[in-house]
Amino acid sequence: MVNFIHVSFGITSFILCLITVIFGAKTAGRFGKSRISKTSFKTHKFLSITTGILVTISFLLGFFTSGGFEPEIELEMEGPHFWTGLTAFILILLQILPSLIIKKRKKIRLIHRYIGYMLFIILLIQLVSGILRID
Ligand code: HEM
Ligand code: HEM
Repeated sequence: MVNFIHVSFGITSFILCLITVIFGAKTAGRFGKSRISKTSFKTHKFLSITTGILVTISFLLGFFTSGGFEPEIELEMEGPHFWTGLTAFILILLQILPSLIIKKRKKIRLIHRYIGYMLFIILLIQLVSGILRID
């Protein structure tokens, strides 16, 4: 059951991240609109927070069902799934929290772009490595 939640939240978070990135690119004016709509920003913000919550739950479920801080975790960590999961969890916090706190967008715009597109690739690796782990 816990595994089922982990897998379905993981898959959903990947799909949501894709839509978040598309709305992010739209908000940044990449689809050729000179006037950026408020709706695309609000959608981007809402979807990103939902993605963040799902990734966090997925990470915690994956981490604790495979032993948490028990010594056996060493054996469970083989493959990139743990490390990409941990990276995605940290990056998503680094992406969302400053965006919500810092009001001067210019300061974080470039790093937001790098982390944003990177997160999508990491979650893709997470999805593929996760599917390969199902037995
Ligand atoms: C999962 C979290 C998030 C991801 C993956 C993400 C990803 C992205 C991406 C890929 C872009 C396009 C950048 C470009 O092409 O130049 C973007 C733009 C943008 N994002 Fe996010 N984002 C996230 C969370 C947030 C949050 C929480 C906010 C604000 C509350 C935010 C506000 C913006 C804004 C205003 C833009 C337009 C360009 C800019 O001013 O930086 N994002 N985002
Ligand atoms: C947000 C996305 C995800 C995160 C943060 C995440 C994180 C984790 C972590 C930390 C573990 C435990 C460490 C390990 O055993 O290597 C784990 C285990 C696992 N994950 Fe994920 N995962 C995600 C998505 C997925 C997806 C999409 C699938 C499958 C389609 C999946 C399948 C699995 C499986 C089968 C295990 C092994 C569970 C076990 O041994 O009981 N994960 N995940």
